[in-house]
Amino acid sequence: MALYSEKVMDHFRNPRNVGSIENADGIGEVGNAKCGDIMKIYLKIDDDIVSDVKFETFGCGSAIASSSMATELIKGKPVSEALTLTNKAVTEALDGLPAHKLHCSVLAEEAIRAAVEDYHSRHSAGTGA
Ligand code: FES
Repeated sequence: MALYSEKVMDHFRNPRNVGSIENADGIGEVGNAKCGDIMKIYLKIDDDIVSDVKFETFGCGSAIASSSMATELIKGKPVSEALTLTNKAVTEALDGLPAHKLHCSVLAEEAIRAAVEDYHSRHSAGTGA
């Protein structure tokens, strides 16, 4: 059996939503201390819907595939749904990742959560009296 699923290879070779968003509404950056990889997520949010999302990663192939799939899963969805995206859902959508690569998908989950938190903190700061 191949180590990586077809879907992982597809998202690794043709990652969706790569890049950055100018004037993003939320930006999240996280790193994994063990492997030293970094993931950055940019969110554009309109009426509490993730209207656009992009990622930049200094990470491995599994991190690229995971963030590509994760961005696809939250695009067009309510912010509350983006917040509940788990790395389990991402790996399932990718038809699995090898056990020692699961932490790469955690990076995508954490970066999205950090970006939503950034959005919320900016939002509440902006609406403060
Ligand atoms: Fe670090 Fe995959 S090995 S994110």
